[in-house]
Amino acid sequence: MITDTTIPTQSKKIDWAKLRADFPILDQKVHGHPLVYLDNAASSQKPRAVIDCVSNYYERDNANVHRGIHELSNRATTAFEASRQRVATFINAKTPDEIIFTRGTTEGINLVAQSWGSKNIKAGDKILLTEMEHHSNIVPWQLLAERTGAKLVYIPVTGDEGLLDLSKLDQLLTPEVKIFALTHISNSLGTVNPVAELCERARKLGVTTLVDAAQSAGHLPLDVQKIGCDFLVFSGHKICGPTGIGVLWGRQEVLDAMPPYHGGGEMILTVDFFKTTYKKAPHRFEAGTPDISGVIGLHAALDYLDAIGRDNIFKHDQELASYAYDQLAQLQGVRLFGPKIGRAGLVSFLLDDVHAHDVVTVADQRGVALRGGHHCNQPLMKKLGIASTARASFYFYNTRAEVDRFIEVIREIQKFFGA
Ligand code: ALA
Repeated sequence: MITDTTIPTQSKKIDWAKLRADFPILDQKVHGHPLVYLDNAASSQKPRAVIDCVSNYYERDNANVHRGIHELSNRATTAFEASRQRVATFINAKTPDEIIFTRGTTEGINLVAQSWGSKNIKAGDKILLTEMEHHSNIVPWQLLAERTGAKLVYIPVTGDEGLLDLSKLDQLLTPEVKIFALTHISNSLGTVNPVAELCERARKLGVTTLVDAAQSAGHLPLDVQKIGCDFLVFSGHKICGPTGIGVLWGRQEVLDAMPPYHGGGEMILTVDFFKTTYKKAPHRFEAGTPDISGVIGLHAALDYLDAIGRDNIFKHDQELASYAYDQLAQLQGVRLFGPKIGRAGLVSFLLDDVHAHDVVTVADQRGVALRGGHHCNQPLMKKLGIASTARASFYFYNTRAEVDRFIEVIREIQKFFGA
């Protein structure tokens, strides 16, 4: 049995209601009802500290980075690079040079698939994924496989309970596998995968690993050295940061051996008409003017999260999700997805005879924001024999009273549709 050593166990007393007041957007009515925002797996809300940080940057320091020698450019560059250092601390990278700013998780995976992939993958090689990956961690590898003649293989998901079927691991994780890319937390099942143990198994065979931390980065402590992966990716907007900014962490020696991804300004050492030489990582992978305000806002988000403690956040999210799961399980005609025990902060479900989109539409009319659809997991949905689920996903500013309201609305929906 593989257990997850990355799940935190400690906690301290937190004033959650006070934290909720930091999020101005939550204090509003939608369709005449108090907003209950339960779509955090798609995107989180932003605390005042992040909003102020971004607007202060535009009001006082806005200029391009790494290019100017005037005061504003120096200030912007200093803040930009301080954020890189902050991200390194957030995930315990060895050096800020291992931090590449991207537009988000999707771009991070595409960067690895294109840059690392073009150098390391050839016809006949295997790329190992899991059946619970979202499209961002499938499509870039399919494109790579189409270009190179490599083969995709998947660790199966057991069924509605949504665990990886690790009894197949020895058959699937073999030396022919060149990269193993897997999600830390499933966005549609809430499964927390034992990434450290799986990366260790891969490392013993010389297999490169990529962890998709889109759903975990702002929800539990992350330590890339403990996880032991080669790449890790996440997005800012899901963890209280601005949209359009993300992070690719790569082990320094792996990044140093990778060719550029995008070409343009700032990633070069010298350019002449026919030949260019490139900077080292991380700048080699950051062509053009970056999302400066996004990077600086991300710094504020990481400070905010770590002041709460991601171990506390994880415990809070889990409590809400298991409370919601238990309440839903008591209703007739509800099909639940994902593990019963040890799930992350989200619940995916279907009501008998009611389409997930109808659930979400009616819930919205009552002020409850859910997500319905395939959650960018079409292959998984197909495997489970469904087209979609409805999903409630929680964050630290959600409350038990909101879960009660959500359940009340689900009961109303069942009555409304005669389900
Ligand atoms: N992957 C995001 C979600 O699960 C968009 O909603």
